Amino acid sequence: MEEIRRQMDETRTLFAAMAEGVLLVDAEGGIVDLNRAAARLLETDEASVRGRTIHEVARHPDLQRFVSEILETGGETEKEVTLLGAEDKYLQLRGSVVERTDGKGRCALIIINDVTRLKRLERVRRDFVANVSHELKTPITTLRGCVDALAPLARLDEEAGRFLAMMSRNIERLGCLAEDVMCLARMEHETEAGRILLQPGSVGDVIRNAARRHEHSARAKKVAISVECPGDIRAMMHCELLEQAVGNLIDNAVKYGPEGGRVTVSAAASGGFVAIRVQDEGPGIEKKHLTRIFERFYRVDPARSRAMGGTGLGLAIVKHITLAHRGSVSVQSEVGRGSVFEIRIPCGCDGAEDGRASA
Ligand SMILES: Nc1ncnc2c1ncn2[C@@H]1O[C@H](COP(=O)(O)OP(=O)(O)O)[C@@H](O)[C@H]1O
Ligand SMILES: [Mg+2]
Repeated sequence: MEEIRRQMDETRTLFAAMAEGVLLVDAEGGIVDLNRAAARLLETDEASVRGRTIHEVARHPDLQRFVSEILETGGETEKEVTLLGAEDKYLQLRGSVVERTDGKGRCALIIINDVTRLKRLERVRRDFVANVSHELKTPITTLRGCVDALAPLARLDEEAGRFLAMMSRNIERLGCLAEDVMCLARMEHETEAGRILLQPGSVGDVIRNAARRHEHSARAKKVAISVECPGDIRAMMHCELLEQAVGNLIDNAVKYGPEGGRVTVSAAASGGFVAIRVQDEGPGIEKKHLTRIFERFYRVDPARSRAMGGTGLGLAIVKHITLAHRGSVSVQSEVGRGSVFEIRIPCGCDGAEDGRASA
């Protein structure tokens, strides 16, 4: 008996000392137990809340919804919620259903982590990156102007011409890098603020426009781009962003593929999703790189990528744009046999379950 009491005391001490908030709510929404950290995070006191309902204690609709969801579905879930107040608080919630030890049915067990500091740091980092890339725009434009102004003079001197061409190439690289970094920062910001509005649009138009924009570079490498899109497939989209994502995949397919090769861009709808595929006859990508190529600045061959004017951010941008469409991007590739990149987004259009327009 003494041993059991001692163990229970130990468990309570541990429970009270935990940095994470722990909250137990019964099927009726009544608070069965919570520790000190949970009380602090929910801005309430431990002693007075037991027996009261979660709806009375924490007037945060997101949190209440989360608890109801756990009890209804019975599964494990995770969610990030914002508690608005004098100072906004960001909480990461992890919930599961547990059987009560007193045999009184099921309870929702919620573990709460305060991620406010992390969120703030993340915002500082993001703002810094966005500001730096924005600040780079003006000097890059000025340098471009200077190179243009010097061009007639350099024509008289072969060596000066060579240096000027080198300057010009590097200014372009810097320009592309600043543009891509800014694009990613903007995407992150707009996604978080929920400002990327999706509207019904034609997937065929998007892939045709993306292909058209790369015709010039494809022709220079004698690469044929073919577009296959049966019927009028429609999906909820931000058409400029989706076009940019498909464009980035086409850019890689042309860039890394062989001269005189073929790039196929196709779209197909099924099961409420649209799959946009970009297939090339390039060198393929080794398996060990496949999980990492969507990371920022990850390149299989950094020297080759840089020599080809790549920023190493193209696929990271594709991933963010796809996520903003509530979709996913994947790749299938085999060394020596080319690659197929696939963007998958939900159709989400009324009356067009499989993405085909009803009329
Ligand atoms: N179609 C492709 N075929 C072979 N390798 C590819 C292909 N697309 C992407 N990669 C690899 O993935 C890396 C990341 O691509 P990306 O983010 O677009 O950056 P970048 O093209 O600027 O290097 C590339 O450097 C390249 O190594
Ligand atoms: Mg690229």
